[in-house]
Amino acid sequence: MLKKIKNKIIKEIILTLLKVRIFKNKFFNKIFTQLLNFSGENMYYLKQKDKEMILNRIRDIKNANNNISFNLDDDLIKISREIKETGICSDLSVNVNEDDVKEVIDYFEKKHFYDSHTPHKENKKNFGDKPSGAYISYDNNTQLNCTPLLKLCLNDQIIKIAYSYLGCMPRLFSVNTFKTFPNQKAFTHGFHRDLDDFLWLTVFVYWTDTFENDGAFEQIKYTHCENKELQQIRNQKFNGINYDKFYNDTMGYTDKSYDEFTRLFGKKNILRVYGKRGKVVAADTAGLHRGTSVKNNRLVTWIRYGVTGSRQKNYSYEKKVDLNSRNKIIFNQSKFKNVLEDIL
Ligand SMILES: [Fe+2]
Repeated sequence: MLKKIKNKIIKEIILTLLKVRIFKNKFFNKIFTQLLNFSGENMYYLKQKDKEMILNRIRDIKNANNNISFNLDDDLIKISREIKETGICSDLSVNVNEDDVKEVIDYFEKKHFYDSHTPHKENKKNFGDKPSGAYISYDNNTQLNCTPLLKLCLNDQIIKIAYSYLGCMPRLFSVNTFKTFPNQKAFTHGFHRDLDDFLWLTVFVYWTDTFENDGAFEQIKYTHCENKELQQIRNQKFNGINYDKFYNDTMGYTDKSYDEFTRLFGKKNILRVYGKRGKVVAADTAGLHRGTSVKNNRLVTWIRYGVTGSRQKNYSYEKKVDLNSRNKIIFNQSKFKNVLEDIL
């Protein structure tokens, strides 16, 4: 109860700080940042207009402190624009070569794992144990000691795209490599939204081949934010409800059938993404999305870049990552070390 009152007060102070002009200076920016760190989950459920106000102040503060300059070429700008417009780019043209793919598959084959979609201490299993569910996953220490994976987390092109999409320096707050097994009911197979930050970008890397009916990822275009296309859909299929109501109504896993989603959003807007191993996809997973079932074991990594990382701190179950000497060199030589400050 007290916590709820505290969070409500913090929320009101933050919104007042943002709305009143004289509170826009270095001193109040510091207060804003501190308050945001102490704020509760309720900040993530504000109206879109208020969330955007928060986001813009975060950008201002981060950009004022950023001393890395970015050169975005036309291709990167095009990709970032595509994600802004539709919520997804199904091919980032990041070249993950076959040797790297093989190294990653081989590497995770021989590691201890967690018997769940994301790692939880109590689900830890030794290499050679039998998994019981639809997924297995790996902890950060295992993942970041995998050289091609660490290189991807620090990849120039990916970070530039994230920078361009987020409008400020990205912070990597989650990396999760997981294997999906066939013939298992998986909870991520219904359309849903993720809620990780005020804005974030999820990058998926496929380490195994996926096909239309074997391990594809689906995202419903235009559902990641307010835009003209979505307005039209809301007017025609959702009785013209406003964006905030639409967002809340479509937040969780619903019992709506696939056909119902097709009817509401149009078949052409449900993008099915699959392809050869080494494929890299980026999506704003605030948009409606789902995984689909697999016929063969599928190994995928998601890498998530956000603007604050504050909500994720509540979830971080481990911070101790001890890099091997090869990866330590790669990390220390990267100009994007700060992007990984939440996990390394
Ligand atoms: Fe999701």
